[in-house]
Amino acid sequence: MAYTIFITGTSSGLGKLTATHFAKQGWNVAATMRSPEKEKELTEYSNVKIFKLDVTDVQQAKQAVQDAIDSFGHIDVVVNNAGLGSYGALELASEENIDWQFAVNVRGPINIIRAFLPHFRERGHGKFINISSFMGITTAVPLGSLYNMSKFALEGLTEGLYYELKPLNISLHLIEQGGSSGNNFVENISWNINPAIKAYDDTTAKLKHLFANVNGSQLDDPMLIVDTISDLATGRNNKFRNIIGASGNALLQMRSSIPIEKYLEKMAANFGL
Ligand SMILES: NC(=O)c1ccc[n+]([C@@H]2O[C@H](COP(=O)([O-])OP(=O)(O)OC[C@H]3O[C@@H](n4cnc5c(N)ncnc54)[C@H](OP(=O)(O)O)[C@@H]3O)[C@@H](O)[C@H]2O)c1
Repeated sequence: MAYTIFITGTSSGLGKLTATHFAKQGWNVAATMRSPEKEKELTEYSNVKIFKLDVTDVQQAKQAVQDAIDSFGHIDVVVNNAGLGSYGALELASEENIDWQFAVNVRGPINIIRAFLPHFRERGHGKFINISSFMGITTAVPLGSLYNMSKFALEGLTEGLYYELKPLNISLHLIEQGGSSGNNFVENISWNINPAIKAYDDTTAKLKHLFANVNGSQLDDPMLIVDTISDLATGRNNKFRNIIGASGNALLQMRSSIPIEKYLEKMAANFGL
């Protein structure tokens, strides 16, 4: 019996790469995305089925999960990958942007996990792999409070759930990645800006410059992440928290080795703050 993986946000980046990898490995893949009508690559695989899913929509989440289970008979592994970044000063963020950041990065995984729990309980096992970020364990740049909030929340959700799902033989894992190549993450960032308020302009310009100038040597190979997801899915790796890439590892090492006040000062100094 072929194994089956369900992945959110497979229209680009890590989601698409992961879906493609598992399809090539012979897994059945339930690839979900907001706009299936635009998809041209995943449609080429006979073992991939595409389902429409905006993770913020509770009814659509329930429907996509049920349709995927009905199509494949069962799901073994769920990857909560869909996510986006809202950057800019908290003061300048619209109410909609604040809610949307939480809705996609936190409420989304909650919707998917809740929709899958009856199926996993019935089967007596199941696995959730949640795509977080090293920004879910530490901070590193200014104007990222909403994104940090969302990924810190995903970390808390996943860690908290560990206790209630352990007796049900349902496992949870976190991927803490840094920047990687081949995704639309930076293009998809929604920037919170208000031309009438100049107080944050300098800091915003510095952060935008940093994002625009990230080069290949600072980005991780996304296949490192896909390989880790693959090892978790197949049980070769059972680590709860998987920190990937040199930059994330170095940062988290520093965060745990010096007092938080020193860490914050050091990070702020990188931006001349
Ligand atoms: N790239 C990085 O620097 C980085 C670093 C650390 C962590 N991450 C995390 O890695 C994950 C994948 O991001 P990526 O790097 O591959 O960037 P990406 O190319 O922008 O992919 C994000 C995916 O999420 C989807 N998405 C956004 N809102 C959605 C919604 N409401 N419902 C369903 N899907 C939605 C997007 O679909 P649409 O095409 O419909 O917008 C897209 O497929 C995210 O959770 C991100 O936070 C990324």
